[in-house]
Amino acid sequence: MAKNTLTITDNRTGKQYEIPIEDNAIRTGDLRQIKTSADDGGLMGYDPALANTASCKSKITYIDGDKGILRYRGYPIEELAEKSNYLETAYLIVKGELPDAKHFEAWRHNITIHTMVHENIKKFVDEFRYDAHPMGILVGTIGALSTFYPDAKDIMNLESRRLQTRRLIGKLPTLAAFAYRHSRGLPYVYPDNDLSYCGNFLSMLFKMTELQYKPDPVLERALDVLFILHADHEQNCSTNAVRSVASSQVDPYSAIAAGVAALYGPLHGGANEAVIRMLLEIGSVDRVPEYIKKFKAGEGRLMGFGHRVYKNYDPRAKIIKKVAYQVFEVTGKNPLIDIALELERIALQDDYFVSRKLYPNVDFYSGIIYQAMGFPMTMFPVLFAIPRTSGWMAQWAELVRDPEQRIARPRQIYTGEATRAYVPIPQRPEPSMREEAVAETI
Ligand code: SDX
Repeated sequence: MAKNTLTITDNRTGKQYEIPIEDNAIRTGDLRQIKTSADDGGLMGYDPALANTASCKSKITYIDGDKGILRYRGYPIEELAEKSNYLETAYLIVKGELPDAKHFEAWRHNITIHTMVHENIKKFVDEFRYDAHPMGILVGTIGALSTFYPDAKDIMNLESRRLQTRRLIGKLPTLAAFAYRHSRGLPYVYPDNDLSYCGNFLSMLFKMTELQYKPDPVLERALDVLFILHADHEQNCSTNAVRSVASSQVDPYSAIAAGVAALYGPLHGGANEAVIRMLLEIGSVDRVPEYIKKFKAGEGRLMGFGHRVYKNYDPRAKIIKKVAYQVFEVTGKNPLIDIALELERIALQDDYFVSRKLYPNVDFYSGIIYQAMGFPMTMFPVLFAIPRTSGWMAQWAELVRDPEQRIARPRQIYTGEATRAYVPIPQRPEPSMREEAVAETI
């Protein structure tokens, strides 16, 4: 009968080892027994960027990259995007089940009463330069929130974890809107708790002198669907950052600030902004072939294409493409979509992209919608961070509860110098002209 084990023969010693296989994985810690001598520390796994390393066990999100499948707590993303709303999806991601009417209303109320921020936050945002990138402001303001809620340090207390989750999901739109209003030199708009989660966000962004902001229902729903699609995505770069920082048992505000910082990068949450910059640079459909040639020659990347896990069309991109046309009914068509469609058409039939399984990802079309809705490009990654907060908080709570989790402390393979004796400065030779030595001698 087949055994659920891996038999390893170390050809350096001829010894054999039986390593258990669990959940289609081995514990790399089991490799440490493989040694060549008593003072050998034992084998490690080497996996830069953790491309084939499971850092945790999670029940929150399931992705099948080859089949283009994405489910939150077992529910297909297509069904949630069509039938749910962001706050209900956030409840599902955080609590593990869809709420009944009573629990949904309690959840909605408990988040709505946390949309305000301490008045000091306004002064904090005021001190940023007018042209400060809102993601930089968000990293700062979320980190600053940890100083307003010292109770958040009690991470083992379930009620405290629940309270910080409500606070962050409630306050992210407010912090994001304050950053936007600051960049426009406009007064801050306080939350309007009579509006929906997305309606209130649009009000805090775009309300002018009217007594109450009236969100366009098509745009409000489009934003809600986009928030559903961005709510979680298992162990992506920013979630890994949240988990790694949280593993030191720091408060969740500091851990989420780390997640926002990771999401800020152009290869992650900054990709939707980078897509628009790329489309603007291409400028017209007839210049697409010239840029495809450049990408294939390694001169820059087709931003919004490719994914570490999806080796098929990102299911979120399919849904976002449909939402785009609903938004255009209200805003008018964003001409950049024609360039994006032509890039997709050509790339999906070009062997360079097909052989590398590079398909449109969640960021390829989202920026086109945000631009049509009137958001400046710098706000695009912010629109990613807001909904991802529910995913980050769910992943954080799962980490805190996981008895197997300890402080993250990866190993390394040392490739530096052997022991060297200190030489007094008068006897020192010119620094070695080795490439890395020169690079370090700035
Ligand atoms: C998100 O992880 C998540 O879940 C993230 C996310 C989420 O919801 O949290 O889904 C959100 O971050 C989506 C990804 C957004 N980023 C981009 O769109 C930036 C452009 N895409 C890439 O840079 C890239 O595809 C990554 C970063 C997304 C994935 O990179 P990998 O898996 O590390 O792939 P790689 O860099 O090893 O590339 C493999 C090959 C290379 O060519 P060769 O060296 O084999 O010749 O594919 C090429 C790369 O040059 N390649 C691309 C490309 N992406 C990869 N070539 C042109 N254009 C691209 N976009």
